[in-house]
Amino acid sequence: MRSHYCGELNESNIGDSATLCGWVHRRRDHGGVIFLDMRDRDGITQVVFDPDTVESFALAEQVRNEFVIQVQGLVRSRPEGTQNSEMATGKIEVLGKELIILNAAETPPFQLDEHMEVGEDVRLRNRYIDLRRPEMLNKLRMRSKVTSSIRNYLDENGFLDIETPILTRATPEGARDYLVPSRTHHGKFFALPQSPQLFKQLLMVSGMDRYYQIAKCFRDEDLRADRQPEFTQIDIETSFLNEEAIMQIAEAMISSVFKEHLNVELTEFPRMTHAEAVLQYGTDRPDLRNPMKLFDIADLMQQVEFKVFNAPANDTESRVVVMKVPGGSEISRKQIDDYTNYIANYGAKGLAWIKVNDLQAGVDGLQSPILKFMPEQVIKAVLSRTDAATGDILFFGADKASVVNEAMSALRDIVGKDMNLLSADWAPLWVIDFPMFESDKDGNCTSVHHPFTAPSCSSEELEKQPLGALSRAYDMVLNGTELGGGSIRINKPDMQQAVFRVLGIDEAEADEKFGFLLDALKYGCPPHGGIAFGLDRLIMMMTGSQSIRDVIAFPKTQSASCLLTDAPGEVGSKQLRELNIRLRELPKTEQKP
Ligand code: AMO
Ligand code: AMP
Repeated sequence: MRSHYCGELNESNIGDSATLCGWVHRRRDHGGVIFLDMRDRDGITQVVFDPDTVESFALAEQVRNEFVIQVQGLVRSRPEGTQNSEMATGKIEVLGKELIILNAAETPPFQLDEHMEVGEDVRLRNRYIDLRRPEMLNKLRMRSKVTSSIRNYLDENGFLDIETPILTRATPEGARDYLVPSRTHHGKFFALPQSPQLFKQLLMVSGMDRYYQIAKCFRDEDLRADRQPEFTQIDIETSFLNEEAIMQIAEAMISSVFKEHLNVELTEFPRMTHAEAVLQYGTDRPDLRNPMKLFDIADLMQQVEFKVFNAPANDTESRVVVMKVPGGSEISRKQIDDYTNYIANYGAKGLAWIKVNDLQAGVDGLQSPILKFMPEQVIKAVLSRTDAATGDILFFGADKASVVNEAMSALRDIVGKDMNLLSADWAPLWVIDFPMFESDKDGNCTSVHHPFTAPSCSSEELEKQPLGALSRAYDMVLNGTELGGGSIRINKPDMQQAVFRVLGIDEAEADEKFGFLLDALKYGCPPHGGIAFGLDRLIMMMTGSQSIRDVIAFPKTQSASCLLTDAPGEVGSKQLRELNIRLRELPKTEQKP
């Protein structure tokens, strides 16, 4: 139906006949001449109708925004003075000869021809219209291109693209499962995969050697700006490679995508141990564009009178830290109060500070509500440990280590952005040497990654001191976001059983849930390992999007529903009966208002 895309026409087409198909982006009636800006996936072209072409002109008078039309006409140069250098097709226009209205359109719920602030609910409910906006189209285009480059990269490196089941058994990755009731097996449920983890390991047992999949994963967890209940992983598994080799393949893949699509060279991926990251940045995914670090000062605070500091300084589960903000002495009291309130969300009970107004003037050159509580030599030691200079501010955090880490890393992020301290556009790194386990609020061990991650120690050592054991896991972090994570896996049944025991999974439960894996490990399972990247997160970062929803064609809301289709929906009683499901009546306390 078309000879050219709208965005494709340029000066080289002048004199050509062109047939375009697309939407009316904007219609302007200039008394006697009608201009239609015609839009398709590739761009916009201006079409002009004059009254000489009587029939078409009459139709052009009828069309409205978002009508679908076909136009045949002649490409010509725009008259001097009417050229538009902002438009790719701004030097030409099409003199319309024939116009066919392919379909009419009602006035859309929001305008596309002008920038308009539209609520996300309205956008999501009318997503098919929202996706007509060039901004959204470009994000999906980037997604398609990046996926294609990744496939090419992995194909060229000997990886096989293999699909794994969606209706399956639970794969624990730390979230709740989405369950699907079985009609044919009374009382039984499939779980949608939280990741293809176990299947990709089984493929290594099968000798596939190198596997990848652009895989849908499902996790029923609390949603944030970078999380969706249904998301996509670039999932990779390899045999006979150690962690170094796997990290190199992954690093080269991400670097090549950044080079090809953003012309950005990600040259250096520094390695940092988990312990180092938490110590220096309070988080296992530090944003290394931000130069600020946390300095431990518990040793200096053990004797001070100030209880807020000396109590945690004398408690092994607590931390006392200071963070220096270069040039931060200009931060106002009001702003400090705002920061204090902000980190209260992370459990911080306060935010002590010292402004260094004049370093040469000694204590007289400092300004702070806590000076009176501290001997001069302690203050001097803090200034020297942080290498503070005139014009800086020092922020202090003192509490249980987990509270200090969360609060001070959140403060580091926000102050870094507010004060324009970010020193680069992109700062990737690998975080390595993660602990195998952490303890939950009841004191039970849970996996930091997943239960199939290999430890760096023997099974005896692991069971003796599980919380001290390190794993062979690695995470790729970019600008403070966890982009991907993987590990070398356990490939022997004894070790897998030991990990299950630490997690409180007894033999019977292990057999019931993971018997197939334990069996497979007995039949010649090669040493293997892999990684998975969050494709949505990668595209979100590459397109500078604020929300993961902007890079997914049909995303879910924060409350895990689809406004477009109104899913999840109710199910009729016949269907429920077939599934042997009876809905419990909600007690009043659990009913939604
Ligand atoms: P992990 O759970 O770390 O590892 O997931 C890998 C990557 O997937 C992305 N991701 C998400 N993206 C959007 N929404 C979510 N809810 C979400 N959850 C995770 C992140 C994360 O880094 N099987 C292991 C990988 C392996 O060991 O090979 C796994 O799934 O970018
Ligand atoms: P207070 O004596 O409680 O008024 O606290 C004095 C200063 O210490 C104030 O600036 C508080 O914001 C700060 N502060 C209180 N608790 C903490 C804490 N746990 N960590 C860091 N600073 C704190």
